[in-house]
Amino acid sequence: NKIPTIKNESVKDFCFKDEKDWDLLRAAITKFSDETLAIPLVINGQKVYRTETKTQVNPAKHGQILADVSQATAEDIQAAIAAAKAAKKQWAATPWTDRAAVFLKAADLISTKYRYDMLAATMLGQGKNVYQAEIDSVAELIDFFKFNTKYAEELYASQPAETSPGVWNRAEYRPLEGFVYAVTPFNFTAIAANLVGAPALMGNTVVWKPSATAALSNYLLLTILEEAGLPAGVINFIPGDPVEVTDLVVNDSEFAALHFTGSTDVFKGLYSKISNNVAADKYRDFPRIVGETGGKNFHLIHPSASLEHSVLSSLRGAYEYQGQKCSALSRLYVPESLWPRFKEEFVGAMSQIQIGNTSSTDSLNFFMGPVIHEQSFDKLAAAIEQAKSDPELTIVQGGSYDKTNGFYVQPTLIQTSNPEHEFLKREFFGPVLTTYVYPDAKYEQIIDSIDKVNKYGLTGSVFARDRSAIRLAEEKLRYSAGNFYINDKCTGAVVGQQWFGGARASGTNDKAGSGNILTRFVSVRNVKENF
Ligand code: SER
Repeated sequence: NKIPTIKNESVKDFCFKDEKDWDLLRAAITKFSDETLAIPLVINGQKVYRTETKTQVNPAKHGQILADVSQATAEDIQAAIAAAKAAKKQWAATPWTDRAAVFLKAADLISTKYRYDMLAATMLGQGKNVYQAEIDSVAELIDFFKFNTKYAEELYASQPAETSPGVWNRAEYRPLEGFVYAVTPFNFTAIAANLVGAPALMGNTVVWKPSATAALSNYLLLTILEEAGLPAGVINFIPGDPVEVTDLVVNDSEFAALHFTGSTDVFKGLYSKISNNVAADKYRDFPRIVGETGGKNFHLIHPSASLEHSVLSSLRGAYEYQGQKCSALSRLYVPESLWPRFKEEFVGAMSQIQIGNTSSTDSLNFFMGPVIHEQSFDKLAAAIEQAKSDPELTIVQGGSYDKTNGFYVQPTLIQTSNPEHEFLKREFFGPVLTTYVYPDAKYEQIIDSIDKVNKYGLTGSVFARDRSAIRLAEEKLRYSAGNFYINDKCTGAVVGQQWFGGARASGTNDKAGSGNILTRFVSVRNVKENF
């Protein structure tokens, strides 16, 4: 019954411009660009089209409509819940290796048959360049599916170690009693895959509300899972009004778990709705609540750090995928002694950044593309305008934006003179980085300030050669980041290698890409048998 040996999927290096790769990619982009796809709901394996639709546009070229996404009615949502309940018994009774095989096969299909389709759908819909799409919708997604099967195997094998004469103790890993609600984000196709895939692997059935701005890649993923043998009703795809879907789902008495990635505020709202229902005895179980939310991730540069490495890492951490990774760098602490050279090199590199339509078949090489939608663009533009008039803020570089054709915000570096400025606290979720230059002698105080000034705890890095400086940061910032990096950027956790997630206002820290997450989607029964 052993599952095959699992290794991380290798990332195709598009920089080498193998013409065959580019041709296949261009063909996939053209295919999705040439028509507006009608995306249905999928309930119990049936496609359901609705007249009420929401369009998904290409954020790099918002005149281009990629998809008309059917929106669920109240009856559809109820039907999806009913389908998840009905499919449950059989799916839960399916040997776990058969469930694992569906995900391993889907991973294989993406690696071999649908790689370019996944890339194109993620590039066009979510504004990624080819490299960012490859590390997300191919490599990380495949890794989630494969590593989860390895972790499931380990979990199922884990049994009580102690026994007494004449006694057999067994742990039985039951799926949760009820169904799971997955609310998935736009920024990683892989995260959506894990949010639906992890509970389903453990024998649960799922009602899935995808992000409106990731419907194309997410629907493609569902069709791949179906091709891989996912039975009808196991994952029900319900794009729709977030509040309406959520209210109906969490008010169902068999709602058993939330698997969420998105903003802290939305998560808090869901948490409190669920808590109210718990207080009102609406459910049989205490629902499991698993969420990965916001962040205000930091780089702390020590005077002993490598300048070149910390500049490049900070640039990548802040501006890759337009700063829209949950893990993206958004506050940067640089010592006075390094600042003049750091600034010169950082600004020099920033001015080289090419920004444009990352999914245009003519030019697939832009480092940065658009931000995801108009609300995000407007929020970022407002922050930049605020920075222009705030005496405690200086725009060092960038500061322009344009939404004529797509939602483009230039990479922006803002310096603040106040270590407690709200720009070091508020999450912008875009390419706006705030820096504070600290006196070298105040290294320890700045560490305290990093911990104190904001409520999040997702990712953070220290850059130093001096071991005692590293140790001090590692100790004092113990709860400031669930993913703490030493001499590396704060983005780019690899499934199976860096377990991902943070505590405090960044979520429940259940660690995606580890076995930990799977334990949240089983309810263990201990069986004791006397002989
Ligand atoms: N796991 C991704 C990263 O570490 C973010 O979601 O960048």
